[in-house]
Amino acid sequence: MKELNKKVAVITGAGSGIGRALAKSLAARGCRLALSDINDAGLAETAAQLEGAEVRTYRLDVSDRDALYAHAEQVAKAFGQVNLVINNAGVALSASVREMTDEDFRWVMDIDFWGVAHGTRAFLPHLIASGDGHVVNLSSVFGLIGVPKQSAYNAAKFAVRGFTESLRQEMQLEGLPVAVSCVHPGGIRTNIARAARMGKSENAEAQRRGFDKLAMTTPEKAAEIIVRGILRDEARILVGPDAWGIDALNRLLGSAYQPLVARFSRKNLYV
Ligand SMILES: NC(=O)c1ccc[n+]([C@@H]2O[C@H](COP(=O)([O-])OP(=O)(O)OC[C@H]3O[C@@H](n4cnc5c(N)ncnc54)[C@H](O)[C@@H]3O)[C@@H](O)[C@H]2O)c1
Repeated sequence: MKELNKKVAVITGAGSGIGRALAKSLAARGCRLALSDINDAGLAETAAQLEGAEVRTYRLDVSDRDALYAHAEQVAKAFGQVNLVINNAGVALSASVREMTDEDFRWVMDIDFWGVAHGTRAFLPHLIASGDGHVVNLSSVFGLIGVPKQSAYNAAKFAVRGFTESLRQEMQLEGLPVAVSCVHPGGIRTNIARAARMGKSENAEAQRRGFDKLAMTTPEKAAEIIVRGILRDEARILVGPDAWGIDALNRLLGSAYQPLVARFSRKNLYV
């Protein structure tokens, strides 16, 4: 996709953070937007910031498979085509493997993995039909390395990466007109930590403060990097200097990154 003007872009989780910043960036480039979120107020606030753009908003829970498939049909019908789908909606959980509940584990997987997988599969026929499609799936640096107390999030984000990298190769092998990118942000200053669930023995306030201290990239900068990655058809889009650092550490050390992360976590997560 070399040109975004007049392209139809779908963004899930557009009511906050990276999704909202992406909506603003794509609107400024002339995209027609189908924005969704589970949070009506956040979504309305995003739409209010997009004066002049063609925008439709939809209340959507991405963990509801049938609702996602119905959404894909509704958007395709309303706009006549779909070119870009950004599966962005996500949540976080901080809890150890021993302590987390099945319910919280499932909550993360349903939104962060299944929301992305169903979002991709529901829109894929429309993206192929457009003749110029692009799927962008939000993983994380936690889709590159494992981190204590992030096992559920790690599982979902590693799964998103495997699913997305497989799809990119399939589209190429089958000669289908759909580019595929997997995004790995480092810490981005959004609401994600405030909205996160915590295991019962976690010090939630300390963790949220820690996140605010470590998150070094604004959502606007993140959106700029992601849009540039889309225009360059990058398979892997790393967002922020911390993401580049973690990627490098992972490549250099292989599994030997783990003692380093554990040492860092003892200071920052076991508080
Ligand atoms: N902020 C970071 O540091 C960071 C780092 C790596 C990856 N990410 C990923 O980036 C994506 C965007 O997160 P963000 O940082 O902008 O967070 P955010 O909390 O600011 O925004 C997430 C949005 O997703 C929506 N959402 C939550 N559950 C939903 C559901 N079931 N259905 C539909 N929408 C739902 C929320 O209402 C919210 O508007 C997520 O996938 C997240 O995992 C974020």
